[in-house]
Amino acid sequence: MSRTSSKVTIVGAGFVGSTAALRCAQKGIDEVVLIDVAGGIARGKALDMRQMRAIDQFESCVTGTDDYAETAGSDIVVITAGIARKPGMLREELVSINGGVVSEVIERAREASPDALFMCVTNPLDVMTYLAQKRSGIAPERLFGMGGVLDSARFVASIAAELDVALGEVDGLVIGAHGEGMVPLIDEARVSGRLLREAATPAQIESIVEHTVNGGAEIVNFLQTGSAYFAPGAAIAHMVEACLKNSGELMSVCAYLDGPYGQHDLYMNVPVRLGHGGVREIVELDISAEERAALDASGASIATLLTEAGLR
Ligand code: 2OP
Repeated sequence: MSRTSSKVTIVGAGFVGSTAALRCAQKGIDEVVLIDVAGGIARGKALDMRQMRAIDQFESCVTGTDDYAETAGSDIVVITAGIARKPGMLREELVSINGGVVSEVIERAREASPDALFMCVTNPLDVMTYLAQKRSGIAPERLFGMGGVLDSARFVASIAAELDVALGEVDGLVIGAHGEGMVPLIDEARVSGRLLREAATPAQIESIVEHTVNGGAEIVNFLQTGSAYFAPGAAIAHMVEACLKNSGELMSVCAYLDGPYGQHDLYMNVPVRLGHGGVREIVELDISAEERAALDASGASIATLLTEAGLR
């Protein structure tokens, strides 16, 4: 990490939060604080990770707590608290219960770390990130969400599997809502330097899209209780690292839009460069007319959810 000392707080010691904490620790972040209302779970998982350091040789100090005072001075606060969907549920069904959790967390975390960046992970992502920003008044570039990196990872993995090529040969992004209306950028995706449209048959593309959009639900159905956490944890740590290193790597991030991509006053996944100040730049790609229409539909569905939730 480029800063002299880095501190990251992960709120929520469930599977996503604890996996993210471990991944951050393994990346060499100096201090990782795992906080949960169930303090014993946070303390126990943190202790487990500290003991793991002797085997895995990482120096990061991981602590668990239920006291926000211990999170003070964090560079980044990641909010994973809330409940996960159950089989057959849409992410959107979690609005009211998780809305209460996120409102409380953002207030307390911000009091302890007023200069931090905030990353929301709690579902439904686009609504929860918006709610966190409106409740807290934190500058929109300092508050963003994790969804697009995960969706893009599923897209790339599906392309590589379907076409039997190495992951490193695939280039693809997914933007839009972190839900059924997500928009895999089929027309821009590339495989071994060729356009996906040229490298894959329409049936293969259909299967890729299906596994991308339903990738999270497939896991929920297998697990029966809980949802994905390995890929989400890795996505969080990747974004944390991009901020701390000021990497500017282009990735799909749930960012506040008021103009770009023709969207107004909502949060949605779009191509972003992350850095020390959070969202450094929103990059407007020249996407196809079909993708732009899909993105508009995605934005309209988020706007409806925000209205239904009484947020605007
Ligand atoms: C997922 O897509 C939990 O929303 C998360 O798996």
